Amino acid sequence: MKILIIGNRGQLGSELTRVLADGRGELGAVPGAYRGADVTGADLGELDITDFGAARAFIAAGKFELIVNCAAMTNVDACESEYEAAMKINALGPRNVAAAAQEAGSALVHISTDYVFDGRGTRPYAEWDVPAPVSVYGKSKLLGERYVRENCPASFIIRTAWLYGQNGSNFVKTILKAGEEKDVITVVDDQRGNPTNAADLAHHILKAGATREYGIYHCTGDGECSWYDFAKEIIRLSGAACEVRPCAAKDYPRPAPRPAYSAMDNLMLRATVGDEMRPWQEALAAFMGTYAR
Ligand SMILES: NC(=O)c1ccc[n+]([C@@H]2O[C@H](COP(=O)([O-])OP(=O)(O)OC[C@H]3O[C@@H](n4cnc5c(N)ncnc54)[C@H](OP(=O)(O)O)[C@@H]3O)[C@@H](O)[C@H]2O)c1
Repeated sequence: MKILIIGNRGQLGSELTRVLADGRGELGAVPGAYRGADVTGADLGELDITDFGAARAFIAAGKFELIVNCAAMTNVDACESEYEAAMKINALGPRNVAAAAQEAGSALVHISTDYVFDGRGTRPYAEWDVPAPVSVYGKSKLLGERYVRENCPASFIIRTAWLYGQNGSNFVKTILKAGEEKDVITVVDDQRGNPTNAADLAHHILKAGATREYGIYHCTGDGECSWYDFAKEIIRLSGAACEVRPCAAKDYPRPAPRPAYSAMDNLMLRATVGDEMRPWQEALAAFMGTYAR
């Protein structure tokens, strides 16, 4: 089995690489088809997905059974001002990968986001809910989803949210650092979503990718919270003597608007390969144990 991980040095790509190399993660063994898989990683240095010709040549030469596209422009605020770059990396890039995957006969897993929703919901979004992104990042990711589905029917769109892993910067690391340096931190309490452990997501990417049950999937940690709740739990688990205070999003203005409510329901996972995502507090505690070491 030959697998290509695009964006392999990013937060999710590196967890996926590790889980495949170990043959298992905390949620269990990788599917049998992937044990001993021949894994190729490609990040910006090896393959720029915005270059259609390069994507076609790389994917045709590799003869991969499965491609996982973790590459993206993930700086939500930068996407507002650099909207052409966002469009190229998050929409055209996935289109290029999807068209090349289709031509080469490879199945494709493409990663998307909760920010495709507008956040006016009052219960977790299901896969059939209609996206209406409010930011350039969300719009570019939604177009990427559509291009993937149009260009490669043998594809999985896996939407995730509030991701944290060992590699790269994320909210957990930011709060841990702030907790060491400050007596008080203030965190937004009126935006809700699902914290998601990247290694747990990697497990489910492989579970779905081993099937032919193509479609849109939501895959996030079990349970929802606000950024404030998330920060409080991080500080509690770290043991730092730092007080966490709630604030409103309007008191913490940022270039990109964020959905007020973007929790998602892993309905499609439950209906197909099974949803083993842990309660977010449990997954966070597992991450912190490993990260501290
Ligand atoms: N992080 C989150 O909270 C979150 C939430 C929901 C969904 N997601 C989605 O989950 C996926 C993985 O996110 P992540 O946090 O792992 O992202 P990440 O850490 O930012 O990694 C993305 C990787 O893609 C690479 N890349 C950027 N432009 C590229 C290009 N043109 N060609 C090839 N590679 C390129 C980046 O390289 P450079 O670093 O050199 O630019 C980086 O290594 C993305 O699709 C993201 O939209 C993330």
